[in-house]
Amino acid sequence: MKTLNVDLGSRSYPIHIGTGLLDQPELIRPHIKGSEVMVVTNDTIAPHYLDRCLQLLDGYDVATTILPDGEQYKTLGTLNLVFDGLLKKHFTRRCTLIALGGGVIGDITGFAAASYQRGVNFIQIPTTLLAQVDSSVGGKTGVNHPLGKNMIGAFHQPQCVIADTDTLNTLDDRQLSAGVAEVIKYGLINDADFFDWLEANLPKLLCRDPGALSYAIERSCRDKAEVVAADEKESGVRALLNLGHTFGHAIETGTGYGTWLHGEAISCGMLMAAELSYKQGWFTEDELKRTEDILRLSNLPTLPPTSMTREQFIDIMSVDKKNLEKKIRLILMKGIGESFISDDFDQTLLDETISDSLSKAHQG
Ligand SMILES: NC(=O)c1ccc[n+]([C@@H]2O[C@H](COP(=O)([O-])OP(=O)(O)OC[C@H]3O[C@@H](n4cnc5c(N)ncnc54)[C@H](O)[C@@H]3O)[C@@H](O)[C@H]2O)c1
Ligand SMILES: [Zn+2]
Repeated sequence: MKTLNVDLGSRSYPIHIGTGLLDQPELIRPHIKGSEVMVVTNDTIAPHYLDRCLQLLDGYDVATTILPDGEQYKTLGTLNLVFDGLLKKHFTRRCTLIALGGGVIGDITGFAAASYQRGVNFIQIPTTLLAQVDSSVGGKTGVNHPLGKNMIGAFHQPQCVIADTDTLNTLDDRQLSAGVAEVIKYGLINDADFFDWLEANLPKLLCRDPGALSYAIERSCRDKAEVVAADEKESGVRALLNLGHTFGHAIETGTGYGTWLHGEAISCGMLMAAELSYKQGWFTEDELKRTEDILRLSNLPTLPPTSMTREQFIDIMSVDKKNLEKKIRLILMKGIGESFISDDFDQTLLDETISDSLSKAHQG
């Protein structure tokens, strides 16, 4: 097992990564304050892992909330089901919420913990690659609004993160690839050596070699933890973690939540950011090709949905949380591993990037 620390002063917490962690009660129990615990999961994950999770909690007053599965349920309505459960049990401010699942469960549960009685403890047990490398770390929580992805939420850090890599064995290939998209993201943002490692080790990762998976999760979490420690509430450098996300969120919103997986949308979004960076003269043709190749080889989409239009992209991108005073801000790249926040790109080149990608998609 590897343990990393997210360094946030009094809100610091450990991330444990390894195999067999769901059989180690000593990892989770020290982080539970009081006796009331609610485990939040969904109807796909519960049959696989709920019993094992409950075994860790022997002796506590444990409640369970099982939500419907899917990004389309990452809503205020679903969030309310968690509050219903907590209030029916008369759980107090000393309760602890445990998120057992992927990013959707983590984001909903975290936001429930941030707002129930103005804030209670929570623990993340991420069970998708995407959640293990990204969403369980850093304290962003929330739900979607029909008009915008993750628009309702709060910053709320967990007490600890337990990433048991064994849980990834039941994940389907499409979900695994979606997680790989966020892993590749860290290489592109600020870790060129990791990008090189990924190019060399991608086949191992895709066939779930435990060593390769653990290494990729650890390195991704370390990269993310550093950025979060430097800028917890995203007033600056943390925005870099959104590489590909402004385009990607437009795809998720534009196609209706749940049609494209988050990681798939981000894959396409990262290539669009790379294309715009190339058109600006900041990214070389070789770097653009390497980016496209690694995404393709990860079985990820690189072209946007043909159901969307350029106007729709721009409309949705204009309500992104990174924007200041209505001007679109994007994460662009001056090379692999050299991303930066930009609002001085050429708007015509952005329009061109979207139009070119859409016409390539139409050509099939
Ligand atoms: N908070 C953050 O910082 C942050 C960062 C990145 C993404 N996100 C959010 O995370 C969400 C995407 O997360 P995700 O990709 O984990 O999707 P997800 O939570 O929908 O999980 C994907 C699918 O896999 C199933 N599943 C989960 N674990 C499984 C397992 N071990 N075995 C079999 N099936 C399993 C789920 O039930 C679901 O059907 C998006 O809503 C995105 O906005 C948040
Ligand atoms: Zn993401």
